[in-house]
Amino acid sequence: MSKVSVIGAGYVGEAAVKHLAQREVADVFVFDIVEDMPKGKALDLMESAPIVGYDRRITGVSVNKDGDGSEYAALEGSEVVIVTSGMPRKPGMSRDDLLKINAGIVGGIVENLNKYAPDAKLIVVTNPLDVMCMVAYLKLGWPRERVMGMAGVLDSARMAWFIAEELNCSVQDVRAMVLGGHGDTMVPLPRYTTVSGVPVTDLIAKDRLEAINERTAKGGGEIVNLFRNASALGSAYHAPGIASAIMAESIVRDQRRLLPTACYLEGEYGVSGMYQGVPAFLGKNGVEKIVELGLDESEKALFNRSVEHVEKAVKEMRELLGI
Ligand code: APR
Repeated sequence: MSKVSVIGAGYVGEAAVKHLAQREVADVFVFDIVEDMPKGKALDLMESAPIVGYDRRITGVSVNKDGDGSEYAALEGSEVVIVTSGMPRKPGMSRDDLLKINAGIVGGIVENLNKYAPDAKLIVVTNPLDVMCMVAYLKLGWPRERVMGMAGVLDSARMAWFIAEELNCSVQDVRAMVLGGHGDTMVPLPRYTTVSGVPVTDLIAKDRLEAINERTAKGGGEIVNLFRNASALGSAYHAPGIASAIMAESIVRDQRRLLPTACYLEGEYGVSGMYQGVPAFLGKNGVEKIVELGLDESEKALFNRSVEHVEKAVKEMRELLGI
């Protein structure tokens, strides 16, 4: 049976674990530094298995944060590892504010990946996403095909929902495309968005589409704000968790789905040496192929703005961490 590990048993990690087990994608190991909590979450989910009717096993692993990390030996044999550990965004906090804290957390975890699961495919979820992907890529030294980030599946799902809401139609027929970094400068692409193959630009007026693009780019912040009075909640978690599980599923089942993925670019879209969200086929080797879309002048300008934004954040991170 396939094995997927999820590091971070918080809100996003839990949503990913639940989806992977319920869809029978793999047996799942879930890790966290909070003593016993991942075991509790695993047990609770296993107790839901007879009700839902799934047979995949979920195992919780508590990692001693002051220890030597040997608990991570349970990563062995993982085909895919999803990293969600880190601090979620709080109201008023930008994704980049999270950089320092989360770079330390992700950096520490990838050392254990190299030790215990050196052949795995890694999906980074921790924000700021594009920068955390870079931290993982630089520290792991793995081929780029095996180090990717989850952003576009979530961002395009948000866009798809807003379109379905606008048209009062089924979400099942909406296919949306979002490129670029996972932040306010992401690039929703209505020209590559369809409802059952019909370009959305033929179905929705330009000004309404612009409003949808804007709402998509700020989709994470909208939820952070709606959660502001619930002290236990930070940022969105259902859609991000499920989005990362869907990517893992495409890899484990070698489905080769074409999913917007944060990939390390080596010349694609005129960009080298950094992560950007681009459509990619995900299969058993991880990122099997990056697809280059033809962009018009205004789309190119928006994409370049996103590249500049991520470039700046990566530069800051590299100076900060000395890598
Ligand atoms: N090893 C393992 N787990 C860790 C570590 C570590 N070194 N450091 C922190 N964690 C755990 C925390 O104990 C917590 O349970 O990561 C979990 C994070 O969960 P939440 O605080 O609930 O955050 P969540 O909403 O799941 O978001 C996680 O995903 O979408 C992004 O912006 C979001 O970066 C954030 C991440």
